Amino acid sequence: MPIVAPSLLFADFLHLEKDCQLLNESEAEWFHLDVMDGRFVPNISFGPMIVECIRKTTKKICDVHLMIVEPEKYAEAFKNAGADHLTVHIETCTHLHRNIQQIKSLGMKAGVAINPHTSVSELSEIIRDIEQVILMSVNPGFGGQKFIPHTMGKIRQLRKLIHETGSKALIEIDGGVTVDNASEIVNAGADVLVAGNAVFKSADPKKAISQLKHS
Ligand code: DX5
Ligand code: ZN
Repeated sequence: MPIVAPSLLFADFLHLEKDCQLLNESEAEWFHLDVMDGRFVPNISFGPMIVECIRKTTKKICDVHLMIVEPEKYAEAFKNAGADHLTVHIETCTHLHRNIQQIKSLGMKAGVAINPHTSVSELSEIIRDIEQVILMSVNPGFGGQKFIPHTMGKIRQLRKLIHETGSKALIEIDGGVTVDNASEIVNAGADVLVAGNAVFKSADPKKAISQLKHS
């Protein structure tokens, strides 16, 4: 069964505690927290302060997805805010190995995210050093976009790379995941499903999470 990681991007920020409680009572294992800087992506979301607030409401894993330039400047702040996992984008890191070492030395699990145009082969020299890969199945910056179909082939390629290298990295799919396409994504080899719109715009978010979990 996949791990379900609802994205808080669609939560009700006026009543954030209420939505966090809802996720606490659900089958979701991770909280996926999307940090956007208005530079790497054309949108701004939230920073460590909000992560710290969310941390206080849950014992579940806080999976922080950094869509920011110069992530090395903020890794410690996110650790202090309570992040368990920190994922950086390959497209923003000139010295990716150094970024990963920094995240691990701070005591977090490290991930690398790749955009739809970035090839899976770019991960070949870092895959053994990381705990997860976020394969972006939309262009990052906004929730509620449509799943890009060619991601399916990338999931299979990544599964092969992980197998060949003996890496323990989890494959996390981020963007456009729905209760309708989830089983196909899991069958292709995904371990973690991120879902924003599919959970928070649903009439019954807990049921949607359960459907994703059992897909
Ligand atoms: C996109 C974010 C995603 C997004 C997921 O930039 O990284 O996590 O919020 O939202 P949905 O599931 O609606 O595509
Ligand atoms: Zn994300």
